[in-house]
Amino acid sequence: MSGISKIAFAGSGNVATHLAKVMAEAGLDLVGFYSRNKASAEKLAHIYHSPYGSYNELKTCNADSIIVAVPDHAMEAVLEQIPVCSSLLLHTSGSLEMNALQHSSPRIGVFYPLQTFSAAKLVDFSQIPILVEANSDEDTSMLTELAGRLTSQVYHINSHQRKKIHIAAIFSSNFVNYLFHVAEDLLEKENVPFEVLRPLIEETTEKIKELRPFHAQTGPAVRNDLETIKIHLKDLEKMPEYRKIYQLLSQQIIKSRNQ
Ligand SMILES: NC(=O)c1ccc[n+]([C@@H]2O[C@H](COP(=O)([O-])OP(=O)(O)OC[C@H]3O[C@@H](n4cnc5c(N)ncnc54)[C@H](OP(=O)(O)O)[C@@H]3O)[C@@H](O)[C@H]2O)c1
Repeated sequence: MSGISKIAFAGSGNVATHLAKVMAEAGLDLVGFYSRNKASAEKLAHIYHSPYGSYNELKTCNADSIIVAVPDHAMEAVLEQIPVCSSLLLHTSGSLEMNALQHSSPRIGVFYPLQTFSAAKLVDFSQIPILVEANSDEDTSMLTELAGRLTSQVYHINSHQRKKIHIAAIFSSNFVNYLFHVAEDLLEKENVPFEVLRPLIEETTEKIKELRPFHAQTGPAVRNDLETIKIHLKDLEKMPEYRKIYQLLSQQIIKSRNQ
């Protein structure tokens, strides 16, 4: 069994940017970047001295593996533009089934890094879980080896499990981050810097290293402090969307204690 050493990317956004960096550092050969806008592919290609182009210019025979890192809603249209190939075709999506790739290559798989990536923010890849899946034992072994060159945390996860993990990730990262945004907005209206919340935010994530989230819960809802909740809801009357979120989450916390 020969390993994966030559990688091409279809899509050059957040995930491609981070995977390309860590893969180049691990000594993998980045053989091309292809995207909707040639300019974004060119930016990455320039860093790694690789060819670039639009999706239909991808020379599949040059790559052991092609990583399609595009939004889920764009996957079908992008696959239609990539020539059918015998390279191991991968996507990086949390929720798309592996079989979304089945008409585009006989060898398909998933390479899902479980982290939040923004192109402009560096991450330490060595601790990021990579969830792999492939449609043959041989490719599963190759993906395990490939992921193992980037991180110490490699998991074999099927499409059904990955979708559930993705939903859990949305609750624990995307929604929490949106709530940070709400908090920042509320403080800004009072000319108070977001920094005032930083120690609280850090202790909240620190605490769940030792306690389960259920046991770490504090605040008026878990204390059943209905009077305080009423005052807060009154205060939020001019911000009905924030009020709705506050009310729903408070109700859910109270309910979880009575189950
Ligand atoms: N970001 C994360 O935190 C994260 C983490 C793990 C997994 N993922 C998964 O990785 C995949 C890619 O995410 P991403 O954050 O890297 O996406 P992204 O930065 O928004 O975009 C990735 C690429 O997709 C191309 N693209 C966007 N819309 C398109 C369309 N309608 N047709 C054709 N190409 C289109 C963009 O092309 P141009 O820029 O060239 O126009 C870009 O190169 C998704 O499945 C996502 O679920 C994301």
